[in-house]
Amino acid sequence: MKYFQLIILSLLIGFSTPIFGQTASENSLPRVHILATGGTIAGSGDSHTKAAYKAGEVPIEELLNAVPEIHEKAKITGEQIANIGSQDIDIKTWLKLSNRIQEIFQNDEADAVVITHGTDTMEETAYFLSLTVNADNPVVLVGAMRPSTAMSQDGNRNLLDAVTVAAAKESKNIGVVVAMNEYIFSAKDVDKTHTTNTNAFQSHNFGPMGIVFDGKVKFYHQPLQVLKPFKTTDLNSLPRVDIFYGYTDADPKIIDFAIENQTKGIVFAGVGNGNFSKEMEKALTKAVKKGIKVVRSSRINQGRVTLENEVDDEKLGFIVADDLNPQKARILLMLALTKTQDKEEIQEMFLGQ
Ligand code: SIN
Repeated sequence: MKYFQLIILSLLIGFSTPIFGQTASENSLPRVHILATGGTIAGSGDSHTKAAYKAGEVPIEELLNAVPEIHEKAKITGEQIANIGSQDIDIKTWLKLSNRIQEIFQNDEADAVVITHGTDTMEETAYFLSLTVNADNPVVLVGAMRPSTAMSQDGNRNLLDAVTVAAAKESKNIGVVVAMNEYIFSAKDVDKTHTTNTNAFQSHNFGPMGIVFDGKVKFYHQPLQVLKPFKTTDLNSLPRVDIFYGYTDADPKIIDFAIENQTKGIVFAGVGNGNFSKEMEKALTKAVKKGIKVVRSSRINQGRVTLENEVDDEKLGFIVADDLNPQKARILLMLALTKTQDKEEIQEMFLGQ
């Protein structure tokens, strides 16, 4: 066979012929970039059946090689941002992640991003990114409750599901989501609700946005996100905001400690509808008078904290968290304080998010 006949034949055989190491059909797949940060999904233990393991041990190459099916869904690239348990994720890591994602989309390096992350603080990273990444492309956080070495580990399936969500045409404009245990949750609504079980994530108020099952994605609803993204590219840190937890006979001196420590904001995880004792109210009012922004959130994981119910927020100068749990209220308050010190404006952000 002549050379030109060979070329025609290979064109006829079709587009499965490798082109520079990729097939043409691979070329038409969406591009998903994986940012690995550690957590149990990258954890390893000595025993198949015992719970003990160390988070953040397995490097990204090994994680991706363990799930070859992801390459049927997307053209995969990846990088290691960190390899730590999510209890060690800090604000610097959030800023690094957010800025890197922004850069990936601005430079058209990928169509979507998947972040492998420990589950303990995944909801916080997801919410932070949902408030700071300014792009329509999907960003999907995923983790595992069992380490990669465990019997019936959940990480491989969760990773495949996360890539499926990231690559799906239905996922345009979904923003930042968490994909865990077949569910897709919005960053704002999701929280971790079980310490060890594989069904550890829920969205108490509004349910999951959708499901991913058998390689297909189905969305049922999408939260309205009204807040414009906060710009973080020039930031190295965020204003300090502390969370305090309400309980029977809680000692208000803890608030004096926060004032001395120059905190800029306090989120109080109150009882019920964000309530606290008269003594705690005095301490928190003192903080407001010192210029500290005080947000009333709740230790209850369902419902909203509402303005002017049992507490005279207007008179005392408090802000309510609406449906944000304390850890997410802290994130919004830290970001709000990078823009404004105006209490009313900050309250609008909480009510409008
Ligand atoms: C972590 O959050 O890094 C440890 C727990 C987990 O990933 O499930």
